[in-house]
This record gives sequence, C-alpha cells and structure tokens, in this order.
Amino acid sequence: MTGDAEFDLLEPEEVEGVGDEWEEIDVSDTDADRIARERDREFSQWRKRIKNTEQFKVEASVFDDATFGALYKLVQDGYIDAFGGPISTGKEANVYTALGGDTARDELGRAESPEVAVKVYRINASDFKDMRGYLDGDPRFEGIGSDKKKVVTAWVRKEFANLKRARAAGVRAPEPLAVERNVLVMEYIATDEGGRAKRLNEVHVENPETAFEVVREYMRRLHRAGLVHGDLSEYNIVFHEGQLVVIDLGQAVTTHHGNAREFLERDCQNIANFFAGEGVDVTADDLYEFVTADEDDDDA
Ligand SMILES: Nc1ncnc2c1ncn2[C@@H]1O[C@H](COP(=O)(O)OP(=O)(O)O)[C@@H](O)[C@H]1O
Ligand SMILES: [Mg+2]
Repeated sequence: MTGDAEFDLLEPEEVEGVGDEWEEIDVSDTDADRIARERDREFSQWRKRIKNTEQFKVEASVFDDATFGALYKLVQDGYIDAFGGPISTGKEANVYTALGGDTARDELGRAESPEVAVKVYRINASDFKDMRGYLDGDPRFEGIGSDKKKVVTAWVRKEFANLKRARAAGVRAPEPLAVERNVLVMEYIATDEGGRAKRLNEVHVENPETAFEVVREYMRRLHRAGLVHGDLSEYNIVFHEGQLVVIDLGQAVTTHHGNAREFLERDCQNIANFFAGEGVDVTADDLYEFVTADEDDDDA
C-alpha cells in the first residue's frame, strides 16, 4: 500500500523562538464539571440515551459523569454529532471515531460533516503518575499541583497545543479541534476505505529510505519548534494518502524540559532501530546529530 507513496514535505509557517512564549494553561473548573454537577434534565436524558447505546455499554469505567459532561459540551458546541465505535484502548486513553458536527466541519473546511477522532483520557488511569514527570519542568504547566483531574486536564490541553505547534512547524499531524476536560477532538486520519490509518509497524514500507528522510525532517522541525515528541516510534506514525502523519503528542515536552535530551535520545533510538530493520543505514547517534544540528549549518 505504500509503494507509490511520493513523500513531500509541508512548508512550515514562521514560528517564534522555542517554548518560552507558551501561554499559561488554565485548568480551573471546567464546563464539563459544571454540566455533570448541575445535571439538568436535558443532560440527564442525553446521558441515559448514550449509556444505552451499544458501543458505550462497556465504557462505564472510562466515562464518569464529568466525562459525559465533556462529551455533552462537545456535542452542544458542534464538534460531535454522533458517536462511532472505539478504535483504540490504550494505557491512559481510549480513542473513538465520531461524526463531527457543524463546527468541526467548518473548522476543517469540509463540505460535509467529517469523521473526527475523540481521545478520552481516563482520569483514574494507572499510569497517571507518569504524567507528572512530563508536566514538571514544562513552563506551560507551572503550579498545576497534583490534583488528578487538573493534571489530566492539563495533559489534554498540552496535547492540543503540541498538535497545533507541530502542524505550524510543517509536521503532518492531526488537526486538533477542541478540548474539553479529559477529551480531545481532532481530525480523523483514515485509510481510503475509512478505517483508521495504518501505523508504520502495520504496513510494509517499500521505500524506507524516503520514509526515513521524512521522519528525520519531522523530528528536526519539531525540535526547532521547541518540541521533543517523547514517544516517537513506528507505533505513533501513520500512513495517510501516501504521506506520513505523526500522532500521539500528549507527552511531547518543550526542549527546555529537564528530560528533553533523554526523551529525544530515546526517540532517535526507536526510529533508528525501526529504519535500520528496514535496511536503512542509520544509527541513533547520526539521527540525533541531524535533529539537533544548528539551522545555520544546514547547508554546510
Ligand atoms: N486522529 C486520529 N486518526 C485516526 N486514528 C487515530 C487518531 N488518533 C489516534 N488514532 C488511533 O488510535 C491509536 C491510539 O492513539 P494514540 O494517540 O497513539 O494514543 P495512545 O496514547 O493510547 O497510544 C493510534 O495508534 C491510532 O491507531
Ligand atoms: Mg500511541
């Protein structure tokens, strides 16, 4: 399926310096909490109806009341019209497809309602402690504290901001549409047949050299935009319309973060391992050097 892929790169937008200009991220009481607390009749009926649909029957543990509140808000705001099924159950989050509402359609500039991906973080996820290690040291999240809800809310906002920033830097990534408490709505990356786009580990890469050059350039662009992905591997890159798309930027940190170097080294190791296995002549060290090279030296 990837044989005829003609990779090309996007033109990056002008981005400012690295990391310091991030706005502070507000994680005070959310609309979702308010909706869940007030439980007006309309919300209660909606919640009951949704709970009885087939795909949500097994989701009781994911969808606490405030998560229903968040989904309800996203429906009201025109981001979601109807829920589809689950496409992934991960350690911290589940991903679903949904039919986007009018706002999603307009923001994505589509003629018809698009499918969207809805990533729902579980507030009580067991790996929640790990999140702290990524948030601490990120200037955007100073003073978040250790309240679980706040940490997860901050995390989702970070994922939204990271996706925006990656795209502005010329890295293909899903367009983020909305965040509400522990829920992120974004562009759905699909196959031609409408299924979720295949991950790099799920396809036969016929032109690994070119694919590697694109991934390497993405890593460099992210880095120059002040970001380190932090979980980059063949599992978080998908194929879409002959192009490579980077996903799962929740854990991405700014290059100022105390562990940024370690995370980048690990990303380089993962990517080098994968492409070396595909026959590309690459080492993690070479890749690291490429990614972190000074812009001034590009033509040297
Ligand atoms: N925007 C999207 N479009 C299509 N599929 C997606 C999208 N986001 C996530 N997925 C699918 O869901 C899986 C899990 O999402 P991801 O963001 O990687 O979360 P996790 O942290 O659980 O790995 C991905 O591997 C991908 O197959
Ligand atoms: Mg992932």
